[in-house]
Amino acid sequence: MEKLVIEGGRPLSGAIRIHGAKNAALPILAASIMAEGTHVLHNVPELLDIGVMLQILRDLGCRAEQEGSVVSVDTSTIHSSHIPEQLMRQMRSSIFLMGPLLTRFGFVRLYQPGGCAIGERKIDLHLKGLQALGVRIQEHGETIECETDGLQGAEIFLDFPSVGATENIMMAAVMAEGITVITNAAREPEIQDLQNFLNRMGADIIGAGTDTITIRGVSMLQPCSYQIIPDRIVTGTCMVAAAATRGSITLHGVCPQHLTSLIHVLRRVGVQIHISDDIIQVSALTRPKSIERVVTAPHPAFPTDLQSQLMVLLSLADGLSVMKETIFEGRFKHVDELARMGADIRVDLNSAFVRGVPRLYGATVEATDLRAGAALVIAGLAAQGTTIIEQIHHIDRGYDRIEQMFNELGANMNRHAVLI
Ligand code: UD1
Repeated sequence: MEKLVIEGGRPLSGAIRIHGAKNAALPILAASIMAEGTHVLHNVPELLDIGVMLQILRDLGCRAEQEGSVVSVDTSTIHSSHIPEQLMRQMRSSIFLMGPLLTRFGFVRLYQPGGCAIGERKIDLHLKGLQALGVRIQEHGETIECETDGLQGAEIFLDFPSVGATENIMMAAVMAEGITVITNAAREPEIQDLQNFLNRMGADIIGAGTDTITIRGVSMLQPCSYQIIPDRIVTGTCMVAAAATRGSITLHGVCPQHLTSLIHVLRRVGVQIHISDDIIQVSALTRPKSIERVVTAPHPAFPTDLQSQLMVLLSLADGLSVMKETIFEGRFKHVDELARMGADIRVDLNSAFVRGVPRLYGATVEATDLRAGAALVIAGLAAQGTTIIEQIHHIDRGYDRIEQMFNELGANMNRHAVLI
Protein backbone atom coordinates (compact mmCIF):
# COMPACT_ATOMS: atom_id res chain seq x y z
CA MET A 1 0.00 0.00 0.00
CA GLU A 2 1.16 3.50 -0.79
CA LYS A 3 0.18 7.07 -0.02
CA LEU A 4 0.83 10.47 -1.61
CA VAL A 5 2.25 13.35 0.39
CA ILE A 6 1.71 16.80 -1.12
CA GLU A 7 3.23 20.07 0.07
CA GLY A 8 0.59 22.42 -1.27
CA GLY A 9 0.33 26.07 -2.16
CA ARG A 10 2.64 26.19 -5.22
CA PRO A 11 1.16 27.54 -8.46
CA LEU A 12 1.67 24.97 -11.23
CA SER A 13 3.86 26.09 -14.11
CA GLY A 14 5.62 24.57 -17.11
CA ALA A 15 4.69 22.17 -19.89
CA ILE A 16 3.94 18.45 -20.18
CA ARG A 17 2.67 15.95 -22.75
CA ILE A 18 -0.58 14.14 -21.96
CA HIS A 19 -0.70 10.33 -22.08
CA GLY A 20 -3.12 8.17 -24.05
CA ALA A 21 -6.73 7.60 -23.04
CA LYS A 22 -7.46 4.69 -20.69
CA ASN A 23 -11.11 4.63 -21.74
CA ALA A 24 -10.14 4.36 -25.40
CA ALA A 25 -7.33 1.84 -24.89
CA LEU A 26 -9.42 -0.64 -22.86
CA PRO A 27 -12.14 -1.39 -25.46
CA ILE A 28 -9.54 -1.31 -28.25
CA LEU A 29 -7.42 -3.93 -26.44
CA ALA A 30 -10.56 -6.06 -26.05
CA ALA A 31 -11.45 -5.59 -29.73
CA SER A 32 -7.98 -6.74 -30.82
CA ILE A 33 -8.94 -10.38 -30.19
CA MET A 34 -11.40 -10.25 -33.10
CA ALA A 35 -8.55 -10.40 -35.67
CA GLU A 36 -6.02 -13.23 -35.62
CA GLY A 37 -2.38 -12.09 -35.54
CA THR A 38 -0.26 -9.37 -33.95
CA HIS A 39 -1.52 -5.83 -33.30
CA VAL A 40 0.72 -2.95 -32.23
CA LEU A 41 -0.92 -0.16 -30.23
CA HIS A 42 0.81 3.17 -29.58
CA ASN A 43 0.15 5.80 -26.88
CA VAL A 44 -1.22 3.23 -24.42
CA PRO A 45 -0.95 4.59 -20.85
CA GLU A 46 0.89 2.55 -18.21
CA LEU A 47 -1.92 2.09 -15.72
CA LEU A 48 -3.25 -0.54 -13.33
CA ASP A 49 -6.40 -1.07 -15.42
CA ILE A 50 -4.37 -1.58 -18.60
CA GLY A 51 -2.26 -4.14 -16.69
CA VAL A 52 -5.43 -6.00 -15.67
CA MET A 53 -6.72 -6.04 -19.27
CA LEU A 54 -3.37 -7.37 -20.55
CA GLN A 55 -3.45 -10.08 -17.85
CA ILE A 56 -6.97 -11.11 -18.91
CA LEU A 57 -5.81 -11.32 -22.55
CA ARG A 58 -2.89 -13.56 -21.43
CA ASP A 59 -5.25 -15.76 -19.39
CA LEU A 60 -7.37 -16.21 -22.53
CA GLY A 61 -4.23 -17.43 -24.33
CA CYS A 62 -2.98 -14.27 -26.13
CA ARG A 63 0.56 -12.94 -25.92
CA ALA A 64 0.37 -9.37 -24.63
CA GLU A 65 3.31 -7.13 -23.71
CA GLN A 66 3.68 -3.46 -22.83
CA GLU A 67 6.94 -1.57 -23.29
CA GLY A 68 6.48 2.06 -22.34
CA SER A 69 3.47 3.30 -24.27
CA VAL A 70 3.62 0.54 -26.91
CA VAL A 71 1.56 -2.62 -26.50
CA SER A 72 1.74 -5.66 -28.75
CA VAL A 73 -1.00 -8.27 -28.67
CA ASP A 74 -0.70 -11.56 -30.54
CA THR A 75 -4.16 -13.12 -30.60
CA SER A 76 -3.31 -16.20 -32.69
CA THR A 77 -2.92 -18.44 -29.62
CA ILE A 78 -6.18 -17.48 -27.87
CA HIS A 79 -7.92 -20.63 -26.63
CA SER A 80 -10.40 -19.65 -23.90
CA SER A 81 -13.55 -17.52 -23.64
CA HIS A 82 -13.83 -17.75 -19.88
CA ILE A 83 -12.86 -14.44 -18.20
CA PRO A 84 -11.32 -15.18 -14.77
CA GLU A 85 -13.62 -14.11 -11.91
CA GLN A 86 -10.94 -12.40 -9.84
CA LEU A 87 -9.79 -10.18 -12.75
CA MET A 88 -13.37 -9.48 -13.82
CA ARG A 89 -14.09 -8.13 -10.34
CA GLN A 90 -11.04 -5.85 -10.41
CA MET A 91 -12.18 -3.91 -13.43
CA ARG A 92 -15.58 -3.19 -14.94
CA SER A 93 -14.03 -2.79 -18.39
CA SER A 94 -13.51 -6.56 -18.60
CA ILE A 95 -17.12 -6.50 -19.80
CA PHE A 96 -15.82 -5.16 -23.16
CA LEU A 97 -14.59 -8.68 -23.90
CA MET A 98 -18.16 -9.99 -24.29
CA GLY A 99 -18.70 -8.78 -27.86
CA PRO A 100 -15.22 -9.75 -29.14
CA LEU A 101 -15.26 -13.21 -27.48
CA LEU A 102 -18.72 -13.95 -28.85
CA THR A 103 -17.45 -13.04 -32.31
CA ARG A 104 -14.43 -15.31 -31.97
CA PHE A 105 -15.94 -18.32 -30.08
CA GLY A 106 -19.73 -17.92 -30.09
CA PHE A 107 -19.57 -18.35 -26.31
CA VAL A 108 -18.40 -16.34 -23.30
CA ARG A 109 -18.57 -16.98 -19.56
CA LEU A 110 -18.03 -14.01 -17.24
CA TYR A 111 -19.03 -12.63 -13.86
CA GLN A 112 -20.76 -9.45 -12.72
CA PRO A 113 -18.10 -6.77 -13.23
CA GLY A 114 -16.34 -4.72 -10.54
CA GLY A 115 -14.84 -1.21 -10.86
CA CYS A 116 -15.17 2.06 -8.96
CA ALA A 117 -17.93 2.08 -6.31
CA ILE A 118 -19.68 5.15 -7.72
CA GLY A 119 -23.19 3.80 -8.19
CA GLU A 120 -25.22 0.80 -9.22
CA ARG A 121 -23.60 0.41 -12.70
CA LYS A 122 -25.94 -2.13 -14.26
CA ILE A 123 -25.17 -4.07 -17.45
CA ASP A 124 -28.73 -4.61 -18.67
CA LEU A 125 -28.22 -2.45 -21.79
CA HIS A 126 -25.17 -4.51 -22.81
CA LEU A 127 -27.15 -7.74 -22.40
CA LYS A 128 -30.31 -6.47 -24.17
CA GLY A 129 -28.22 -5.28 -27.13
CA LEU A 130 -26.43 -8.61 -27.44
CA GLN A 131 -29.76 -10.47 -27.21
CA ALA A 132 -31.05 -8.38 -30.13
CA LEU A 133 -28.02 -9.60 -32.13
CA GLY A 134 -28.99 -13.23 -31.46
CA VAL A 135 -27.18 -14.05 -28.21
CA ARG A 136 -28.79 -16.37 -25.63
CA ILE A 137 -27.97 -15.27 -22.10
CA GLN A 138 -28.22 -17.27 -18.88
CA GLU A 139 -27.47 -15.80 -15.48
CA HIS A 140 -26.69 -18.15 -12.56
CA GLY A 141 -26.09 -15.96 -9.52
CA GLU A 142 -23.01 -13.88 -10.35
CA THR A 143 -22.09 -15.97 -13.42
CA ILE A 144 -23.26 -14.91 -16.88
CA GLU A 145 -23.09 -17.29 -19.85
CA CYS A 146 -23.66 -15.98 -23.37
CA GLU A 147 -23.96 -18.17 -26.44
CA THR A 148 -24.81 -17.69 -30.11
CA ASP A 149 -25.09 -19.86 -33.23
CA GLY A 150 -24.36 -16.79 -35.36
CA LEU A 151 -24.64 -13.07 -34.72
CA GLN A 152 -27.33 -11.29 -36.79
CA GLY A 153 -27.51 -7.54 -37.50
CA ALA A 154 -30.41 -5.73 -35.82
CA GLU A 155 -31.89 -2.31 -35.09
CA ILE A 156 -31.10 -1.43 -31.49
CA PHE A 157 -32.43 1.53 -29.54
CA LEU A 158 -30.53 2.24 -26.31
CA ASP A 159 -32.81 3.46 -23.50
CA PHE A 160 -29.81 5.48 -22.26
CA PRO A 161 -26.66 6.40 -24.27
CA SER A 162 -24.36 4.10 -22.26
CA VAL A 163 -20.73 4.33 -23.34
CA GLY A 164 -19.89 0.71 -22.53
CA ALA A 165 -23.08 -0.74 -24.04
CA THR A 166 -22.57 1.26 -27.28
CA GLU A 167 -19.00 -0.08 -27.53
CA ASN A 168 -19.90 -3.68 -26.71
CA ILE A 169 -22.76 -3.79 -29.23
CA MET A 170 -20.58 -2.11 -31.90
CA MET A 171 -17.90 -4.78 -31.45
CA ALA A 172 -20.39 -7.68 -31.49
CA ALA A 173 -21.99 -6.31 -34.68
CA VAL A 174 -18.75 -5.99 -36.67
CA MET A 175 -18.84 -9.59 -37.94
CA ALA A 176 -22.59 -10.17 -37.59
CA GLU A 177 -24.57 -11.03 -40.71
CA GLY A 178 -26.25 -7.95 -42.15
CA ILE A 179 -26.59 -4.39 -40.91
CA THR A 180 -26.85 -3.16 -37.31
CA VAL A 181 -28.08 0.32 -36.46
CA ILE A 182 -27.61 1.61 -32.90
CA THR A 183 -29.86 4.56 -32.12
CA ASN A 184 -29.47 6.84 -29.09
CA ALA A 185 -25.84 5.71 -29.06
CA ALA A 186 -23.33 7.40 -26.74
CA ARG A 187 -21.23 10.06 -28.52
CA GLU A 188 -18.03 10.07 -26.43
CA PRO A 189 -14.73 10.54 -28.35
CA GLU A 190 -13.56 7.12 -27.17
CA ILE A 191 -16.35 5.55 -29.25
CA GLN A 192 -15.02 7.31 -32.35
CA ASP A 193 -11.56 5.97 -31.51
CA LEU A 194 -12.95 2.43 -31.27
CA GLN A 195 -14.72 2.89 -34.63
CA ASN A 196 -11.45 4.06 -36.22
CA PHE A 197 -9.57 1.06 -34.80
CA LEU A 198 -12.24 -1.43 -35.93
CA ASN A 199 -12.34 0.12 -39.41
CA ARG A 200 -8.53 -0.07 -39.57
CA MET A 201 -8.94 -3.84 -38.95
CA GLY A 202 -11.40 -4.02 -41.88
CA ALA A 203 -14.77 -3.30 -40.25
CA ASP A 204 -17.40 -1.13 -41.96
CA ILE A 205 -18.78 1.34 -39.40
CA ILE A 206 -20.03 4.91 -39.76
CA GLY A 207 -21.61 7.37 -37.35
CA ALA A 208 -19.57 7.06 -34.14
CA GLY A 209 -19.58 10.48 -32.48
CA THR A 210 -23.25 10.93 -33.44
CA ASP A 211 -26.27 9.27 -31.87
CA THR A 212 -26.75 6.81 -34.75
CA ILE A 213 -24.08 4.25 -35.57
CA THR A 214 -24.39 1.93 -38.57
CA ILE A 215 -22.35 -1.26 -38.76
CA ARG A 216 -22.30 -3.42 -41.91
CA GLY A 217 -21.14 -6.91 -41.04
CA VAL A 218 -17.88 -8.09 -42.65
CA SER A 219 -16.48 -11.62 -42.85
CA MET A 220 -12.75 -10.93 -42.33
CA LEU A 221 -10.62 -8.71 -40.09
CA GLN A 222 -6.86 -8.33 -40.02
CA PRO A 223 -4.53 -7.15 -37.23
CA CYS A 224 -3.25 -3.58 -37.41
CA SER A 225 -1.14 -0.84 -35.88
CA TYR A 226 -3.01 2.00 -34.17
CA GLN A 227 -2.40 5.20 -32.15
CA ILE A 228 -4.74 5.80 -29.16
CA ILE A 229 -6.21 9.31 -28.64
CA PRO A 230 -4.96 11.50 -25.75
CA ASP A 231 -6.76 11.22 -22.42
CA ARG A 232 -9.31 14.04 -22.17
CA ILE A 233 -9.94 13.40 -18.45
CA VAL A 234 -6.24 13.60 -17.56
CA THR A 235 -6.03 16.76 -19.69
CA GLY A 236 -9.03 18.21 -17.87
CA THR A 237 -7.60 17.24 -14.47
CA CYS A 238 -4.40 19.17 -15.25
CA MET A 239 -6.37 22.18 -16.52
CA VAL A 240 -8.42 22.34 -13.32
CA ALA A 241 -5.27 21.84 -11.19
CA ALA A 242 -3.59 24.79 -12.92
CA ALA A 243 -6.66 26.94 -12.26
CA ALA A 244 -6.99 25.83 -8.61
CA THR A 245 -3.33 26.63 -7.85
CA ARG A 246 -3.55 29.95 -9.80
CA GLY A 247 -0.85 28.64 -12.08
CA SER A 248 0.00 28.79 -15.74
CA ILE A 249 0.69 25.59 -17.72
CA THR A 250 0.93 24.27 -21.27
CA LEU A 251 -0.39 20.84 -22.23
CA HIS A 252 0.91 19.21 -25.43
CA GLY A 253 -0.53 16.37 -27.48
CA VAL A 254 -4.15 17.00 -26.51
CA CYS A 255 -7.47 17.13 -28.39
CA PRO A 256 -9.10 20.47 -27.40
CA GLN A 257 -12.30 19.58 -29.28
CA HIS A 258 -12.89 16.74 -26.79
CA LEU A 259 -13.01 19.25 -23.92
CA THR A 260 -15.43 21.89 -25.19
CA SER A 261 -17.72 21.81 -22.14
CA LEU A 262 -14.86 22.07 -19.61
CA ILE A 263 -13.21 24.90 -21.57
CA HIS A 264 -16.56 26.75 -21.59
CA VAL A 265 -17.01 26.32 -17.81
CA LEU A 266 -13.42 27.32 -16.99
CA ARG A 267 -13.68 30.46 -19.12
CA ARG A 268 -16.90 31.37 -17.31
CA VAL A 269 -15.17 31.17 -13.92
CA GLY A 270 -12.43 33.47 -15.21
CA VAL A 271 -9.66 31.06 -16.29
CA GLN A 272 -7.70 32.07 -19.39
CA ILE A 273 -7.37 29.38 -22.03
CA HIS A 274 -5.48 29.53 -25.33
CA ILE A 275 -5.79 26.77 -27.89
CA SER A 276 -3.69 26.02 -30.94
CA ASP A 277 -3.89 22.65 -32.72
CA ASP A 278 -2.98 20.04 -30.12
CA ILE A 279 -1.83 22.48 -27.42
CA ILE A 280 -3.84 24.02 -24.57
CA GLN A 281 -2.44 26.81 -22.38
CA VAL A 282 -4.21 27.50 -19.10
CA SER A 283 -3.55 30.38 -16.74
CA ALA A 284 -5.45 31.66 -13.73
CA LEU A 285 -4.08 34.58 -11.83
CA THR A 286 -7.16 35.60 -9.84
CA ARG A 287 -9.67 33.89 -7.57
CA PRO A 288 -12.24 31.93 -9.65
CA LYS A 289 -15.80 33.21 -9.91
CA SER A 290 -18.64 30.94 -8.82
CA ILE A 291 -20.94 29.39 -11.43
CA GLU A 292 -24.70 29.12 -11.09
CA ARG A 293 -25.07 25.52 -12.25
CA VAL A 294 -22.99 22.77 -13.84
CA VAL A 295 -24.80 19.54 -14.78
CA THR A 296 -23.02 16.33 -15.72
CA ALA A 297 -24.57 14.50 -18.69
CA PRO A 298 -23.49 12.31 -21.64
CA HIS A 299 -20.99 13.83 -24.12
CA PRO A 300 -20.77 16.59 -25.33
CA ALA A 301 -22.18 17.90 -22.01
CA PHE A 302 -20.01 18.24 -18.90
CA PRO A 303 -18.37 14.83 -18.13
CA THR A 304 -19.10 13.06 -14.87
CA ASP A 305 -15.41 12.06 -14.83
CA LEU A 306 -14.45 15.72 -14.25
CA GLN A 307 -17.18 16.58 -11.74
CA SER A 308 -15.12 15.99 -8.58
CA GLN A 309 -12.09 17.86 -9.93
CA LEU A 310 -14.18 20.91 -10.90
CA MET A 311 -15.78 20.85 -7.45
CA VAL A 312 -12.37 21.56 -5.91
CA LEU A 313 -12.00 24.68 -8.05
CA LEU A 314 -15.53 25.81 -7.16
CA SER A 315 -14.69 25.24 -3.47
CA LEU A 316 -12.17 28.05 -3.87
CA ALA A 317 -14.45 30.34 -5.90
CA ASP A 318 -15.98 33.60 -4.80
CA GLY A 319 -19.65 32.72 -4.13
CA LEU A 320 -22.06 29.78 -4.32
CA SER A 321 -21.96 27.23 -7.14
CA VAL A 322 -24.27 24.27 -7.76
CA MET A 323 -23.15 21.00 -9.36
CA LYS A 324 -25.69 18.38 -10.37
CA GLU A 325 -24.60 14.79 -11.05
CA THR A 326 -26.96 12.91 -13.38
CA ILE A 327 -24.85 9.90 -14.46
CA PHE A 328 -23.80 8.05 -11.30
CA GLU A 329 -25.73 8.28 -8.05
CA GLY A 330 -22.74 7.57 -5.76
CA ARG A 331 -20.35 10.16 -7.07
CA PHE A 332 -20.07 12.66 -4.20
CA LYS A 333 -17.74 10.62 -1.98
CA HIS A 334 -15.02 13.27 -2.26
CA VAL A 335 -17.27 15.79 -0.49
CA ASP A 336 -16.58 14.50 3.05
CA GLU A 337 -12.85 14.37 2.32
CA LEU A 338 -12.83 17.92 0.91
CA ALA A 339 -14.69 19.06 4.05
CA ARG A 340 -11.69 17.85 6.12
CA MET A 341 -9.61 20.29 4.09
CA GLY A 342 -11.95 23.20 4.86
CA ALA A 343 -14.36 23.06 1.90
CA ASP A 344 -17.96 24.14 2.49
CA ILE A 345 -20.18 21.79 0.49
CA ARG A 346 -23.72 20.57 1.19
CA VAL A 347 -25.18 17.65 -0.74
CA ASP A 348 -28.89 17.30 -1.37
CA LEU A 349 -29.83 14.22 -3.44
CA ASN A 350 -27.82 14.54 -6.66
CA SER A 351 -26.86 18.21 -6.26
CA ALA A 352 -23.88 19.68 -4.41
CA PHE A 353 -24.09 23.26 -3.16
CA VAL A 354 -20.53 24.56 -3.05
CA ARG A 355 -19.87 27.75 -1.10
CA GLY A 356 -16.40 28.99 -1.96
CA VAL A 357 -13.83 29.48 0.82
CA PRO A 358 -10.68 31.63 0.52
CA ARG A 359 -8.37 28.63 0.99
CA LEU A 360 -8.16 24.90 1.68
CA TYR A 361 -5.84 23.40 4.31
CA GLY A 362 -3.74 20.23 4.17
CA ALA A 363 -5.21 17.14 5.87
CA THR A 364 -5.08 13.33 5.78
CA VAL A 365 -7.73 12.12 3.36
CA GLU A 366 -8.71 8.95 1.53
CA ALA A 367 -9.21 8.38 -2.21
CA THR A 368 -12.53 6.54 -2.37
CA ASP A 369 -12.53 6.07 -6.14
CA LEU A 370 -10.46 7.09 -9.18
CA ARG A 371 -11.79 10.57 -9.94
CA ALA A 372 -12.46 11.40 -6.26
CA GLY A 373 -8.76 10.65 -5.75
CA ALA A 374 -7.81 13.01 -8.59
CA ALA A 375 -9.89 15.73 -6.95
CA LEU A 376 -8.05 15.26 -3.65
CA VAL A 377 -4.73 15.60 -5.48
CA ILE A 378 -5.88 18.95 -6.90
CA ALA A 379 -7.10 20.01 -3.45
CA GLY A 380 -3.74 19.03 -1.95
CA LEU A 381 -1.85 21.00 -4.61
CA ALA A 382 -3.93 24.11 -3.93
CA ALA A 383 -4.09 23.78 -0.13
CA GLN A 384 -1.93 25.47 2.43
CA GLY A 385 0.21 22.89 4.24
CA THR A 386 0.70 19.13 3.87
CA THR A 387 -1.92 16.75 2.48
CA ILE A 388 -1.64 12.97 2.80
CA ILE A 389 -3.80 10.90 0.44
CA GLU A 390 -4.38 7.24 1.30
CA GLN A 391 -5.79 4.39 -0.84
CA ILE A 392 -4.04 5.75 -3.93
CA HIS A 393 -4.36 2.50 -5.88
CA HIS A 394 -7.65 4.02 -7.10
CA ILE A 395 -5.72 6.95 -8.61
CA ASP A 396 -3.19 4.61 -10.27
CA ARG A 397 -6.07 3.02 -12.21
CA GLY A 398 -6.35 6.13 -14.38
CA TYR A 399 -3.26 8.37 -14.00
CA ASP A 400 0.21 7.21 -15.01
CA ARG A 401 2.53 8.16 -12.08
CA ILE A 402 0.47 11.19 -11.11
CA GLU A 403 3.18 12.54 -8.78
CA GLN A 404 5.71 12.58 -11.62
CA MET A 405 3.25 14.37 -13.90
CA PHE A 406 2.54 17.15 -11.39
CA ASN A 407 6.15 17.41 -10.18
CA GLU A 408 7.12 18.19 -13.79
CA LEU A 409 4.72 21.13 -13.41
CA GLY A 410 6.46 22.36 -10.26
CA ALA A 411 4.49 20.49 -7.59
CA ASN A 412 6.02 18.96 -4.48
CA MET A 413 4.41 15.56 -4.31
CA ASN A 414 5.89 12.23 -3.22
CA ARG A 415 4.80 8.62 -3.01
CA HIS A 416 5.55 6.70 0.18
CA ALA A 417 5.00 3.10 1.19
CA VAL A 418 2.47 2.70 4.01
CA LEU A 419 3.87 0.57 6.82
CA ILE A 420 1.19 -1.75 8.18
C1 UD1 B 1 -17.73 4.88 -19.10
C2 UD1 B 1 -16.35 5.31 -18.65
C3 UD1 B 1 -16.42 6.03 -17.32
C4 UD1 B 1 -17.41 7.18 -17.38
C5 UD1 B 1 -18.76 6.71 -17.93
C6 UD1 B 1 -19.74 7.84 -18.15
C7 UD1 B 1 -14.96 3.60 -19.65
C8 UD1 B 1 -14.05 2.46 -19.44
N1 UD1 B 1 -15.52 4.13 -18.56
O1 UD1 B 1 -18.22 3.96 -18.12
O2 UD1 B 1 -15.11 6.52 -17.00
O3 UD1 B 1 -17.61 7.70 -16.08
O4 UD1 B 1 -18.58 6.03 -19.19
O5 UD1 B 1 -19.19 8.80 -19.00
O6 UD1 B 1 -15.15 4.06 -20.75
N2 UD1 B 1 -26.18 1.93 -17.27
C9 UD1 B 1 -27.30 1.11 -17.15
N3 UD1 B 1 -27.27 -0.09 -17.80
C10 UD1 B 1 -26.21 -0.51 -18.54
C11 UD1 B 1 -25.08 0.35 -18.67
C12 UD1 B 1 -25.10 1.57 -18.02
O7 UD1 B 1 -28.26 1.45 -16.47
O8 UD1 B 1 -26.26 -1.61 -19.11
C13 UD1 B 1 -26.16 3.23 -16.54
C14 UD1 B 1 -25.06 3.25 -15.48
O9 UD1 B 1 -25.50 2.65 -14.27
C15 UD1 B 1 -24.79 4.73 -15.34
C16 UD1 B 1 -25.02 5.26 -16.77
O10 UD1 B 1 -25.78 4.26 -17.44
O11 UD1 B 1 -25.72 5.32 -14.48
C17 UD1 B 1 -23.74 5.55 -17.53
O12 UD1 B 1 -22.99 4.37 -17.67
P1 UD1 B 1 -22.07 4.09 -18.94
O13 UD1 B 1 -22.19 5.19 -19.93
O14 UD1 B 1 -22.39 2.71 -19.41
O15 UD1 B 1 -20.64 4.12 -18.29
P2 UD1 B 1 -19.49 3.06 -18.43
O16 UD1 B 1 -19.42 2.57 -19.83
O17 UD1 B 1 -19.59 2.08 -17.33
